[in-house]
Amino acid sequence: MTQDTWTAVDDYIGQVVGTSDAALEAALTESAREGLPAISVSPPQGKLLHLLARSVRARRILEVGTLGGYSAIWLARALPADGRLVTLELDEHHAQVARANLERAGLADRVDVRVGRAVDTLAAMEDDFDLVFIDADKPSNADYVAAVLRLTHPGSVIVVDNVVRGGAVVDPDGDANVQGVRRLNDLLMSEPRLTATTIQTVGSKGYDGFTLALVT
Ligand code: SAH
Ligand code: DHB
Ligand code: MG
Repeated sequence: MTQDTWTAVDDYIGQVVGTSDAALEAALTESAREGLPAISVSPPQGKLLHLLARSVRARRILEVGTLGGYSAIWLARALPADGRLVTLELDEHHAQVARANLERAGLADRVDVRVGRAVDTLAAMEDDFDLVFIDADKPSNADYVAAVLRLTHPGSVIVVDNVVRGGAVVDPDGDANVQGVRRLNDLLMSEPRLTATTIQTVGSKGYDGFTLALVT
């Protein structure tokens, strides 16, 4: 099995379940035109986030790592009309591109893009979220999960992206991103308020995976 196969199957899945429309395509096209890296979640991953948010009837969603707003569109579309997505981004240019993409998708009224270092923004927040998607700088993953424990309640769901890293996660001497994932896993093993699993994935973005944790 090769990357070509994984990409072809993701394309096929996209046709089967419906993972594309004008606003989502425009978000990716505009992000590329503005020079943003092509590291948004894959379309099937985007739909998974959307379905998770609807499954838990999320009214308040937090995202860490906005980029051009592609995953934010999927998440915000799962909200009721009076729901709210707060999405945190370090880079002012990324945030501007995301705001334009969310505006084009008709979601600007539901989404708050906040610029700054996510650890600082999180420390100053007092909100209570039903669903959290963590997808920013990987070395800080454990810090983000620790910080959002204060901003969630029993029943809240936390999803963390990019936690398998082509299988490198099993290497105790891996790079800074791997160390970030392993520090996150140390926290998951020791934190009694969380119960979690990790699913390995292949697809258009290669071999990686995500962690899903429930606040108990
Ligand atoms: N969730 C997006 C992809 C996010 S890519 C999607 O699927 O569409 C990761 C983003 O995290 C980048 O835009 C990067 O600028 C941002 N980021 C990196 N370090 C950060 C930090 N310390 N605080 C907030 N955002 C950060
Ligand atoms: C990178 C970041 C991501 O969030 C992702 O899904 C894939 C790659 C990166 O920083 O390279
Ligand atoms: Mg990611």
